[in-house]
Amino acid sequence: MRNFDEQTITDAVLERVGHAENPRIRQISEAVVRHLHAMVREIRPTQAEWEFAIDFLTRTGKMCDDKRQEFILLSDTLGVSMLVDAINHGSGPGATESTVLGPFYVEGPPELEAGADISPGMEGEPLIVTGTVAAPDGRPLADAIVDVWHSDDDGHYDVQKGGGADAPAMRARFRTDSAGRFHFWTIKPAAYPIPDDGTVGDMLKAQGRHPWRPAHVHFMIEAPGFRKLVTHVFVAGDPYLDSDAVFGVKDSLIREFMPHPAGQAPDGRQVDRGYSHLHYDFGLKPL
Ligand code: BEZ
Ligand code: FE
Repeated sequence: MRNFDEQTITDAVLERVGHAENPRIRQISEAVVRHLHAMVREIRPTQAEWEFAIDFLTRTGKMCDDKRQEFILLSDTLGVSMLVDAINHGSGPGATESTVLGPFYVEGPPELEAGADISPGMEGEPLIVTGTVAAPDGRPLADAIVDVWHSDDDGHYDVQKGGGADAPAMRARFRTDSAGRFHFWTIKPAAYPIPDDGTVGDMLKAQGRHPWRPAHVHFMIEAPGFRKLVTHVFVAGDPYLDSDAVFGVKDSLIREFMPHPAGQAPDGRQVDRGYSHLHYDFGLKPL
Protein backbone atom coordinates (compact mmCIF):
# COMPACT_ATOMS: atom_id res chain seq x y z
CA MET A 1 0.00 0.00 0.00
CA ARG A 2 1.31 3.40 -0.96
CA ASN A 3 0.31 6.75 -2.50
CA PHE A 4 -1.76 7.80 0.52
CA ASP A 5 -3.64 11.09 0.42
CA GLU A 6 -5.97 13.02 2.72
CA GLN A 7 -8.83 10.65 1.91
CA THR A 8 -6.97 7.33 2.33
CA ILE A 9 -4.29 7.88 4.99
CA THR A 10 -6.51 7.33 8.07
CA ASP A 11 -7.83 3.94 6.98
CA ALA A 12 -4.31 2.84 6.04
CA VAL A 13 -2.96 3.67 9.50
CA LEU A 14 -5.99 2.08 11.20
CA GLU A 15 -5.41 -1.10 9.22
CA ARG A 16 -1.72 -1.16 10.28
CA VAL A 17 -2.31 -0.60 14.03
CA GLY A 18 -5.22 -3.07 13.92
CA HIS A 19 -2.65 -5.88 13.88
CA ALA A 20 -1.74 -5.30 17.53
CA GLU A 21 -2.11 -8.60 19.38
CA ASN A 22 -3.21 -7.10 22.68
CA PRO A 23 -6.86 -6.03 22.21
CA ARG A 24 -6.57 -3.11 24.63
CA ILE A 25 -3.50 -1.77 22.80
CA ARG A 26 -5.39 -2.22 19.51
CA GLN A 27 -8.42 -0.34 20.85
CA ILE A 28 -6.32 2.53 22.23
CA SER A 29 -4.12 2.78 19.12
CA GLU A 30 -7.16 2.91 16.84
CA ALA A 31 -8.82 5.60 18.98
CA VAL A 32 -5.63 7.68 19.03
CA VAL A 33 -5.35 7.50 15.24
CA ARG A 34 -9.05 8.25 14.63
CA HIS A 35 -9.18 11.24 16.99
CA LEU A 36 -5.78 12.66 16.06
CA HIS A 37 -6.53 12.49 12.35
CA ALA A 38 -9.99 13.99 12.92
CA MET A 39 -8.44 16.87 14.87
CA VAL A 40 -5.90 17.55 12.12
CA ARG A 41 -8.66 17.46 9.49
CA GLU A 42 -10.69 19.90 11.59
CA ILE A 43 -7.97 22.46 12.29
CA ARG A 44 -6.01 22.02 8.99
CA PRO A 45 -2.70 23.21 10.54
CA THR A 46 -0.06 24.94 8.48
CA GLN A 47 3.34 23.23 8.51
CA ALA A 48 4.59 25.99 10.86
CA GLU A 49 1.69 25.41 13.26
CA TRP A 50 2.38 21.67 13.37
CA GLU A 51 6.06 22.37 14.08
CA PHE A 52 4.96 24.72 16.90
CA ALA A 53 2.80 21.92 18.35
CA ILE A 54 5.74 19.49 18.29
CA ASP A 55 8.00 22.11 19.86
CA PHE A 56 5.36 22.84 22.57
CA LEU A 57 5.26 19.16 23.53
CA THR A 58 9.06 18.90 23.38
CA ARG A 59 9.42 21.88 25.74
CA THR A 60 6.75 20.40 28.00
CA GLY A 61 8.74 17.16 28.25
CA LYS A 62 12.01 18.98 28.87
CA MET A 63 10.47 20.80 31.86
CA CYS A 64 9.73 17.50 33.61
CA ASP A 65 11.98 16.17 36.37
CA ASP A 66 11.46 14.70 39.83
CA LYS A 67 10.14 18.07 41.10
CA ARG A 68 8.17 19.39 38.13
CA GLN A 69 5.69 17.43 36.00
CA GLU A 70 4.50 19.72 33.22
CA PHE A 71 2.60 16.93 31.44
CA ILE A 72 0.40 16.31 34.50
CA LEU A 73 -0.19 20.06 34.70
CA LEU A 74 -1.20 20.00 31.03
CA SER A 75 -3.60 17.12 31.71
CA ASP A 76 -4.96 19.03 34.76
CA THR A 77 -5.52 22.31 32.93
CA LEU A 78 -7.18 20.62 29.95
CA GLY A 79 -9.63 18.89 32.29
CA VAL A 80 -8.30 15.43 31.42
CA SER A 81 -7.20 14.60 34.98
CA MET A 82 -10.72 15.32 36.28
CA LEU A 83 -12.25 13.32 33.41
CA VAL A 84 -10.09 10.29 34.25
CA ASP A 85 -10.98 10.79 37.92
CA ALA A 86 -14.72 10.97 37.11
CA ILE A 87 -14.50 7.75 35.07
CA ASN A 88 -12.65 5.87 37.80
CA HIS A 89 -13.97 7.33 41.05
CA GLY A 90 -17.67 8.04 40.66
CA SER A 91 -19.09 8.80 44.10
CA GLY A 92 -21.89 6.95 45.86
CA PRO A 93 -24.02 7.42 48.97
CA GLY A 94 -21.86 7.99 52.04
CA ALA A 95 -18.63 8.21 49.99
CA THR A 96 -16.69 11.46 49.77
CA GLU A 97 -16.08 12.76 46.24
CA SER A 98 -12.54 12.75 44.88
CA THR A 99 -10.56 15.38 43.02
CA VAL A 100 -7.09 15.87 41.47
CA LEU A 101 -3.95 14.78 43.33
CA GLY A 102 -1.84 17.70 42.08
CA PRO A 103 1.96 17.85 41.95
CA PHE A 104 2.69 18.76 45.57
CA TYR A 105 2.16 15.43 47.34
CA VAL A 106 5.41 14.04 48.80
CA GLU A 107 5.61 10.29 49.51
CA GLY A 108 6.18 9.22 53.10
CA PRO A 109 5.16 12.34 55.05
CA PRO A 110 6.07 12.44 58.76
CA GLU A 111 3.55 10.55 60.92
CA LEU A 112 2.51 12.79 63.83
CA GLU A 113 0.47 12.41 67.01
CA ALA A 114 -3.13 13.55 67.06
CA GLY A 115 -3.33 17.28 67.73
CA ALA A 116 0.17 18.05 66.41
CA ASP A 117 0.93 21.40 64.78
CA ILE A 118 2.12 20.72 61.22
CA SER A 119 3.19 24.35 60.64
CA PRO A 120 5.07 25.28 63.83
CA GLY A 121 6.37 28.84 63.88
CA MET A 122 4.91 29.70 60.50
CA GLU A 123 3.12 32.99 59.87
CA GLY A 124 -0.60 32.81 59.31
CA GLU A 125 -3.97 32.43 61.00
CA PRO A 126 -4.11 29.32 63.21
CA LEU A 127 -6.42 26.61 61.88
CA ILE A 128 -7.63 23.51 63.70
CA VAL A 129 -8.73 20.70 61.40
CA THR A 130 -10.98 18.03 62.88
CA GLY A 131 -12.53 15.14 61.00
CA THR A 132 -13.79 11.61 60.96
CA VAL A 133 -13.36 8.68 58.56
CA ALA A 134 -16.23 6.21 58.17
CA ALA A 135 -17.63 3.49 55.91
CA PRO A 136 -20.69 4.42 53.81
CA ASP A 137 -22.97 2.92 56.49
CA GLY A 138 -21.47 5.34 59.04
CA ARG A 139 -19.27 2.74 60.82
CA PRO A 140 -16.17 4.62 62.07
CA LEU A 141 -12.87 3.43 60.60
CA ALA A 142 -10.12 3.16 63.21
CA ASP A 143 -6.46 3.32 62.19
CA ALA A 144 -7.17 4.85 58.78
CA ILE A 145 -4.15 6.71 57.37
CA VAL A 146 -4.88 10.38 56.74
CA ASP A 147 -2.25 12.27 54.71
CA VAL A 148 -2.71 16.05 54.59
CA TRP A 149 -0.88 18.81 52.74
CA HIS A 150 -1.62 22.42 51.82
CA SER A 151 -0.17 25.81 50.90
CA ASP A 152 0.87 28.58 53.30
CA ASP A 153 -0.93 31.90 53.75
CA ASP A 154 0.97 33.20 50.74
CA GLY A 155 -0.12 30.32 48.48
CA HIS A 156 3.16 28.36 48.44
CA TYR A 157 3.83 24.69 49.30
CA ASP A 158 6.96 23.72 51.21
CA VAL A 159 8.38 22.05 48.06
CA GLN A 160 8.24 25.42 46.28
CA LYS A 161 10.33 26.99 49.04
CA GLY A 162 13.07 24.37 49.21
CA GLY A 163 11.27 22.12 51.75
CA GLY A 164 9.40 18.88 51.18
CA ALA A 165 10.94 15.49 51.90
CA ASP A 166 13.91 16.97 53.82
CA ALA A 167 12.10 19.80 55.59
CA PRO A 168 8.38 19.01 55.54
CA ALA A 169 5.95 21.76 56.50
CA MET A 170 2.18 21.95 56.16
CA ARG A 171 2.16 18.23 55.46
CA ALA A 172 1.89 15.16 57.69
CA ARG A 173 0.24 11.79 58.22
CA PHE A 174 -2.23 11.00 61.00
CA ARG A 175 -4.05 7.85 62.06
CA THR A 176 -7.68 7.84 63.10
CA ASP A 177 -8.53 6.80 66.66
CA SER A 178 -10.99 4.06 67.68
CA ALA A 179 -13.91 6.39 66.86
CA GLY A 180 -12.48 7.17 63.39
CA ARG A 181 -11.44 10.70 64.47
CA PHE A 182 -8.33 12.75 63.68
CA HIS A 183 -7.30 16.35 64.33
CA PHE A 184 -4.33 18.64 63.90
CA TRP A 185 -3.29 22.29 63.98
CA THR A 186 -1.88 24.27 61.09
CA ILE A 187 -2.30 27.67 59.39
CA LYS A 188 -5.10 28.66 57.04
CA PRO A 189 -4.06 28.11 53.39
CA ALA A 190 -4.47 30.75 50.67
CA ALA A 191 -5.51 30.53 47.02
CA TYR A 192 -2.54 30.19 44.67
CA PRO A 193 -1.61 30.13 41.00
CA ILE A 194 -0.48 26.76 39.63
CA PRO A 195 3.10 26.89 38.31
CA ASP A 196 2.72 29.09 35.22
CA ASP A 197 6.30 29.80 34.23
CA GLY A 198 6.36 26.97 31.66
CA THR A 199 4.47 25.76 28.62
CA VAL A 200 1.22 25.34 30.56
CA GLY A 201 1.44 28.99 31.66
CA ASP A 202 2.01 30.01 28.01
CA MET A 203 -1.06 27.98 27.03
CA LEU A 204 -3.25 29.53 29.75
CA LYS A 205 -2.22 33.05 28.69
CA ALA A 206 -2.91 32.27 25.03
CA GLN A 207 -6.33 30.89 25.99
CA GLY A 208 -7.15 33.99 28.09
CA ARG A 209 -7.26 31.97 31.34
CA HIS A 210 -5.93 32.67 34.82
CA PRO A 211 -3.81 30.07 36.68
CA TRP A 212 -5.50 30.31 40.12
CA ARG A 213 -6.82 27.55 42.36
CA PRO A 214 -9.17 28.31 45.26
CA ALA A 215 -7.69 27.80 48.75
CA HIS A 216 -7.90 24.17 49.92
CA VAL A 217 -6.45 21.45 52.13
CA HIS A 218 -5.49 18.15 50.43
CA PHE A 219 -6.40 14.78 51.95
CA MET A 220 -5.36 11.26 50.93
CA ILE A 221 -7.08 8.64 53.08
CA GLU A 222 -6.47 4.88 53.14
CA ALA A 223 -7.99 2.05 55.16
CA PRO A 224 -7.80 -1.73 54.55
CA GLY A 225 -10.77 -2.99 52.53
CA PHE A 226 -11.60 0.50 51.15
CA ARG A 227 -10.65 2.45 48.05
CA LYS A 228 -7.99 5.10 48.56
CA LEU A 229 -9.59 8.56 48.63
CA VAL A 230 -7.71 11.49 47.07
CA THR A 231 -9.51 14.76 47.61
CA HIS A 232 -9.39 18.31 48.96
CA VAL A 233 -11.62 20.49 51.11
CA PHE A 234 -12.06 24.00 49.71
CA VAL A 235 -12.55 27.23 51.68
CA ALA A 236 -16.14 28.47 51.27
CA GLY A 237 -16.36 31.94 49.75
CA ASP A 238 -13.07 31.73 47.84
CA PRO A 239 -13.30 33.91 44.70
CA TYR A 240 -11.86 31.14 42.50
CA LEU A 241 -14.34 28.36 43.35
CA ASP A 242 -16.08 28.77 39.97
CA SER A 243 -12.97 29.18 37.85
CA ASP A 244 -10.45 26.69 39.32
CA ALA A 245 -7.63 26.38 36.75
CA VAL A 246 -7.80 22.57 37.00
CA PHE A 247 -11.61 22.08 37.24
CA GLY A 248 -11.32 20.31 40.60
CA VAL A 249 -14.09 21.95 42.67
CA LYS A 250 -17.22 20.04 43.75
CA ASP A 251 -19.94 21.50 45.98
CA SER A 252 -19.68 18.59 48.42
CA LEU A 253 -16.01 19.49 49.06
CA ILE A 254 -16.59 23.13 50.09
CA ARG A 255 -16.70 23.97 53.81
CA GLU A 256 -16.75 27.09 55.97
CA PHE A 257 -13.45 27.50 57.78
CA MET A 258 -15.30 28.90 60.81
CA PRO A 259 -13.62 31.91 62.45
CA HIS A 260 -13.39 31.89 66.27
CA PRO A 261 -12.07 34.49 68.73
CA ALA A 262 -9.14 33.67 71.06
CA GLY A 263 -10.14 31.17 73.72
CA GLN A 264 -10.55 27.45 74.23
CA ALA A 265 -10.42 25.45 70.97
CA PRO A 266 -12.43 22.23 70.36
CA ASP A 267 -9.45 20.10 71.47
CA GLY A 268 -9.22 21.98 74.79
CA ARG A 269 -6.19 24.03 73.76
CA GLN A 270 -6.11 27.71 74.92
CA VAL A 271 -5.47 29.86 71.85
CA ASP A 272 -4.30 33.43 72.46
CA ARG A 273 -5.53 34.82 69.11
CA GLY A 274 -8.32 34.30 66.63
CA TYR A 275 -8.31 30.98 64.80
CA SER A 276 -10.40 29.05 62.24
CA HIS A 277 -11.94 25.61 62.50
CA LEU A 278 -12.46 23.21 59.59
CA HIS A 279 -14.44 20.04 60.22
CA TYR A 280 -15.08 17.35 57.59
CA ASP A 281 -16.58 13.87 57.85
CA PHE A 282 -15.04 11.62 55.17
CA GLY A 283 -16.65 8.47 53.79
CA LEU A 284 -14.63 5.74 52.07
CA LYS A 285 -15.98 3.36 49.43
CA PRO A 286 -15.50 -0.38 49.97
CA LEU A 287 -13.14 -2.07 47.47
C1 BEZ B 1 -2.79 21.29 43.76
O1 BEZ B 1 -3.86 21.49 44.26
O2 BEZ B 1 -1.85 21.14 44.52
C2 BEZ B 1 -2.64 21.30 42.26
C3 BEZ B 1 -3.48 20.51 41.50
C4 BEZ B 1 -3.33 20.50 40.12
C5 BEZ B 1 -2.37 21.29 39.53
C6 BEZ B 1 -1.54 22.09 40.30
C7 BEZ B 1 -1.68 22.10 41.68
FE1 FE C 1 -3.14 22.22 46.15
